Amino acid sequence: MTIISELHQDHVNLNKLLMILRQKVVKLREGQHPNFNLMADVINYIANYADGFHHPREDKLYEYLSSRDSLLDEKLQKCVEDHLTLKHASLHLQEAIDGILHDAVLPMQEFANLLEEYVLCQTEHLNFEEGEIFPLIEKLVSEAEMTKLEVQLPMPEDPLFGEKRAQEYMELYRELILDLNDED
Ligand SMILES: [Fe+2]
Ligand SMILES: [Fe+2]
Repeated sequence: MTIISELHQDHVNLNKLLMILRQKVVKLREGQHPNFNLMADVINYIANYADGFHHPREDKLYEYLSSRDSLLDEKLQKCVEDHLTLKHASLHLQEAIDGILHDAVLPMQEFANLLEEYVLCQTEHLNFEEGEIFPLIEKLVSEAEMTKLEVQLPMPEDPLFGEKRAQEYMELYRELILDLNDED
């Protein structure tokens, strides 16, 4: 099931960024100021990649798989709603960071709350798909059918897209880790 493994790989990558953002929340609670430019890059990356590509791809897949099993339908519905909520959460966080970068006053503990809530929502969603949606899809949908579906799913036009994204992601991840170490 290539499509599921691709989506899974996206989750693994996103999860690594989220793990570091979680550590950032701890640092914020201890009174340290993060590098907000870097924070903006990370949230922009998540917004562009997850909200702009990963979730639309899942939405399309979920649409194809709808109306075949009532339990699956129920769970897919929750996912589609999650995607909308997460998109708004990204926008909200982007606005907050943008404000801070432009000298708006936002108490750091308030920002920590926002970031923590964001990381929680993202993590909860990843775990829901990994723990409940994907196993159910694998149980209900044959590999032959998945292969057929795959060709119908929207793919990035640029064949280098995946590679570029992977590289972008690695750079951000590295910078985040360095930034975290700098704070010690
Ligand atoms: Fe999703
Ligand atoms: Fe996902």
